[in-house]
Amino acid sequence: MTAGKLMAVLRGGRFVPPPVWLMRQAGRYLPAYRKVRATTSSFLEFCYTPDKATEVTLQPIRRFDLDAAIIFSDILVVPDALGQKVWFAEGEGPKLEPLKDPAEFGKLSRARLPEHLAPVYAALRATRASLPSNKALLGFAGAPFTLACYMIEGGGSRDFAMTKRWAYQHPESFGLLIDLLVDAVVDHLGHQVEAGADAVQLFDSWAGVLPESELFRWSVQPMQRIAQRLREKHDVPVIAFPRAVGPAILMYRRITEFAALSIDTGIGAHWVANELQPHVALQGNLDPIMLVAGGRALEAEARRILNKLGGGRFVFNLGHGIVPQTPPDHVARLVEIVRGWKPGA
Ligand code: CP3
Repeated sequence: MTAGKLMAVLRGGRFVPPPVWLMRQAGRYLPAYRKVRATTSSFLEFCYTPDKATEVTLQPIRRFDLDAAIIFSDILVVPDALGQKVWFAEGEGPKLEPLKDPAEFGKLSRARLPEHLAPVYAALRATRASLPSNKALLGFAGAPFTLACYMIEGGGSRDFAMTKRWAYQHPESFGLLIDLLVDAVVDHLGHQVEAGADAVQLFDSWAGVLPESELFRWSVQPMQRIAQRLREKHDVPVIAFPRAVGPAILMYRRITEFAALSIDTGIGAHWVANELQPHVALQGNLDPIMLVAGGRALEAEARRILNKLGGGRFVFNLGHGIVPQTPPDHVARLVEIVRGWKPGA
């Protein structure tokens, strides 16, 4: 089996100890990342420079020997490729020229996406060429609802109220935007697979702002359509990460097109071991702040999660991305804890 333990779990296997990688494993908490990042002022330009993106993708693999590399890019490269204005203001996070009404959808076009995102695919090819064959290479994209949130609000938001109001008052036109994003994400992930991604993850980071009654239409179904189309064409495993949806995660469990569900920190490992893991492989769900805290708190919590989930189909990961204040030594210690874990010990 190529691409190691992670791919084996995504294809139905089990490993003791489980494979481990960390969301946002490349980033500002690593001095080596900051050094490369400092050579380009624009974050998007940095993402679109294949040799830099390749270098920072490989840094956490070299330093921590993780089981998977996730290509260094961002979910907002898709709105950028569709023709929406996207920029990253220093210390403020992402900014977009917000979509105000459906008349503006006409400005968005998939025609130039493959050309615009060619540097991402070049970085994937270069990364695969230097990555050992027992390490998986992950591609990713934002799920349509989360992308729509940023595209309509024009950046981050506490509650994405404008986006939700649009979805509830004008579901037909919101549906057109979601359809366009389904197509764009299928294109983008398809090209990533052709460039060497072994599996892909869909980040629905803001699914949790929706009530349960709206989740199926705007989160579950669009992600399912993407997974279906990718699997028809490429037979590639898809990991779905519907963040902060609580027990409504049971809706995603039924979708056989998802090879794994990524579990946020708010869901109990014990509950998911009973309700989800018999049906689907799981990934998660250590609190990223445990990784900042380190010491005995980190050790106890990592072991608790391993004891609950490590015996089934499982990929050790965080419940959300690594934060910049994480000491790199705590990441090294976490990998040691996971690799040293034995069931029942
Ligand atoms: O995981 C990895 O190592 C791969 C790279 C990756 C980045 N962003 C790099 C990045 C991935 C997988 C993402 C996904 C992403 N981007 C998500 C989904 C996951 C999540 O966290 O919920 C979202 C919502 C975004 C949008 C985004 N990009 C935000 C909100 C921000 C600002 C917040 C922050 O951490 O600064 C970004 C910028 C960004 N994307 C940085 C990195 C390393 C930091 C910018 C920099 O280094 O200058």
